[in-house]
Amino acid sequence: MSSTDAAAPEPARPPVHVPVLLERITELLAPACAADGAVLVDATLGLAGHSLAMLDAHPGLRLVGLDRDPEARAEAARRIEAAGHTDRVTLVPAVFDELPDVLARLGIDEVQGVLFDLGVSSLQLDRPDRGFSYSADAPLDMRMNPEAGRTAAEIVNTYPPKELARVLRVYGEERFASRIAAAIDRERAREPFTSTARLAELVREAIPAATRRTGGHPAKRTFQALRIEVNDELGVLERALPAAVDALAVGGRVVVITFHSLEDRIVKQTLAADAVDRTPPEFPMPVPELGPVLRLLTRGGEAASDEELAANPRAASARVRAAERIRRAA
Ligand SMILES: C[S@@+](CC[C@H](N)C(=O)[O-])C[C@H]1O[C@@H](n2cnc3c(N)ncnc32)[C@H](O)[C@@H]1O
Repeated sequence: MSSTDAAAPEPARPPVHVPVLLERITELLAPACAADGAVLVDATLGLAGHSLAMLDAHPGLRLVGLDRDPEARAEAARRIEAAGHTDRVTLVPAVFDELPDVLARLGIDEVQGVLFDLGVSSLQLDRPDRGFSYSADAPLDMRMNPEAGRTAAEIVNTYPPKELARVLRVYGEERFASRIAAAIDRERAREPFTSTARLAELVREAIPAATRRTGGHPAKRTFQALRIEVNDELGVLERALPAAVDALAVGGRVVVITFHSLEDRIVKQTLAADAVDRTPPEFPMPVPELGPVLRLLTRGGEAASDEELAANPRAASARVRAAERIRRAA
């Protein structure tokens, strides 16, 4: 059947991909990545939106792209090939806290840029079968790498109620965490949870009726919390960020996009800790080896413009922070 046949179904097209804060990210990375042979690590390759923009802009740039999701790597590889950049790119299946091992295996001593665009990709969110979405029924999975680790169902069905409540309260900032955990505990005794829809419905029923109508879908915070726990997102970030700073050459830049306050706090504190002079105040002058390792490039967490928000509502909670390495470690 030809594609002009009016009765033919539309062919499946890849969703249009809108990288968050694209212009600002490429602007922040450009000074470090312009030279021939510069190496940029995209620690969260996703659909390679940011990476492709950097490869297009800097013909001498090499890219090391990490993603723990095999589907993301495959789709990114297709897009990179279609853009004609394959020979400058190495894709690596890895969780980004493995960065030091990855670079050692590739024989790379230092890099000029590291980009983190945290969280899940539109590919993951738009594929209901991955179990990230509370608005479609699917297996309760939420693993970014579907081949490794515990699923959300295993956590929901096995964590003691107190631990479950802690996860929901801390990672989801859910004020009804204990009520939801108690409801889960009662329900799972009847029948273990296997699907997103049953969990989403239970959360809706567990919270007070008056609050159901405010603040978006009632299960949003529970799903965020479980996703963070399933993928150990904060633990991985806490380990990876210092490793990324260590890997930077002098003049190299680290750029991080976060999507919620817990991530943003880790990034803010880690970068700030390396941007201070540690010379004791009683010393007569600054000691170069105790001086700052980083220079902050952003003032606070920068948000997307109103224009970008109008075009891409997913950018609403995005914040970017960036820093430049200004000296070698002592
Ligand atoms: C927000 S998307 C990145 C989108 C990308 N910047 C683009 O423009 O297409 C995040 C991606 O990073 C991956 N990811 C998240 N955390 C990761 C981690 N700790 N290690 C490796 N990959 C991770 C996810 O699987 C997802 O594909």
